[in-house]
This record gives sequence, C-alpha cells and structure tokens, in this order.
Amino acid sequence: MLEKAKEFIRKNLPLHHPETAVILGTGLGGFVGGMSRLSSLEYKNIPGFPESTVQGHKGELLHGYLGDKELLCLNGRFHLYEGHDPAVIADVIHLLKDLGISRLIVTNAAGSLRQDMPPGTLMLINDHINFSGKNPLVGPNNEKYGPRFPAMNGAYTESLRRKCKEVAAKNNINLAEGVYLMVLGPNFETAAEVKAFAQWGADAVGMSTVPEVIAAAHCGMDVLGVSVITNYAAGLMSNTPSHRETLAEADKAAAKMTRLISEFIKEME
Ligand code: HPA
Repeated sequence: MLEKAKEFIRKNLPLHHPETAVILGTGLGGFVGGMSRLSSLEYKNIPGFPESTVQGHKGELLHGYLGDKELLCLNGRFHLYEGHDPAVIADVIHLLKDLGISRLIVTNAAGSLRQDMPPGTLMLINDHINFSGKNPLVGPNNEKYGPRFPAMNGAYTESLRRKCKEVAAKNNINLAEGVYLMVLGPNFETAAEVKAFAQWGADAVGMSTVPEVIAAAHCGMDVLGVSVITNYAAGLMSNTPSHRETLAEADKAAAKMTRLISEFIKEME
C-alpha cells in the first residue's frame, strides 16, 4: 500500500536517513517553526495519501532538521471519526517504516479525567486504553511488518519515557504522566462515560493517537506520546467541552509542548 506515495516522497523530499517521525496534534503545528532546511509536501499532492479534514489540522508532510537530527513530521493527522478506514493509519505508519523511521513521537490534545491535571498540563502517555472499537491491524496481517498478534505492553517505550521526564525536569517543564483512553468521537463524552473511564484507570481522553501507536508497536518502532490537556472532560467541572476551547488551550500550551519535544529530540541518542 501507498507504494506510489513512497516513490513520490523519495523523489520530492531530500531524505538522507531520517529515523524519527513526529505526528503533530491539534494546534501544535508551531513545532515546525524550529526546524531548519525545511521541505514540505501537502498531503493532497502525495498520490494515494489520505487527507486530513479537521479545522485546526493542516495536512502536510515535512522534512527537515532539528539541530543535527533529521526528522519527518506529519503536520495534521487522520482521525477515525473523519471516516478513514483504520487500516489507512497502519498504511501511513508502514510508509514511515519503509522510509527508515524507527522512532515515532506522537502528540495530541486531550481532556483531563483528573481534577489535579488542569488545562495547560502536559501529560506523558505511559499506556493506553483502546475504547474506539476500531483497530488499524484488522485485515490480513503483513508479516513483513510484524506478527498477527502483537503484544502491546511496553508500546510506550520505557527508555524514551525516562528520557522525556529527564528533559522536562531539566527545562523546568511540569510533566504529568498517565493513561490515555481513546474514544472514536466525534462527540465529546457524557459525564457518565467520563466517570467510568476514570474508574478504569484512565487519566486523559481523546480521539486519536491509539491507532498510530498500535501500528507503530506492531512494526517494532519505539514510541513517545505526549498529550496537552486542553480541558476538563465533561462532568468533571462545570465546563462544557468544545472544539473552540480545545484549539484555544492547545494554542496556549503549544510553546511548552514544542520546547519539550524539541529538547527531547536534540538529546536523543
Ligand atoms: N474528549 C475527547 N477528546 C478531546 C477532549 C475531550 O474532552 N479534549 C480534547 N480532545
């Protein structure tokens, strides 16, 4: 799958040996401002590539450098609530794998399930609950990428989490840590759902990331995931979650997220 896209990308981006890819969530596109020697391809110009349709999400694949680290960057992701087949997300991750990517950094905006984790907090994802009812690995398994029944413990690579915490401490960035639960969306949760999710041990809720991480773990990539908490989930406080609030809060926290991820990348082995 996406063979034409791969060919097109190889022809049109000056790839050397990128090993790390970053997927930028809602409002976090500013990250690319810190990159040098930037080249970009709009998703809509890449043959066979899916398009991202959400307001606040761009749709471009970027290539460039942060310090001496060569990166690919997906500015704009594919959400299942847009109607994408979950397998499309696996195809995009496999494309990255074929381009040499062995480490995936995923960011997103999420609602807090904890009163002590207010909007503006960054949360390191240490595990997830896939409550979307969907899975990117459904369908025939391609053994080239991984086994039929991949394990998911350790999907959020421990050594990267440790490093990220070190980098946060060094840069005086408050970093919470917890479990991300994915809902399919596009509606925000009910108060009853939020209560249930918190009892299950989830700390944040959102509508993305999990399919990417499942596909990445399946094909043996190391993964780092960080959420920016943009709101208290429904019923936790008196607020009503909205996309407008999500965008505004993601925007406010974007500089902090950009600093954390940038410093992390610069310090990577
Ligand atoms: N729920 C689901 N997804 C989200 C939320 C939320 O409260 N905030 C940002 N993305």
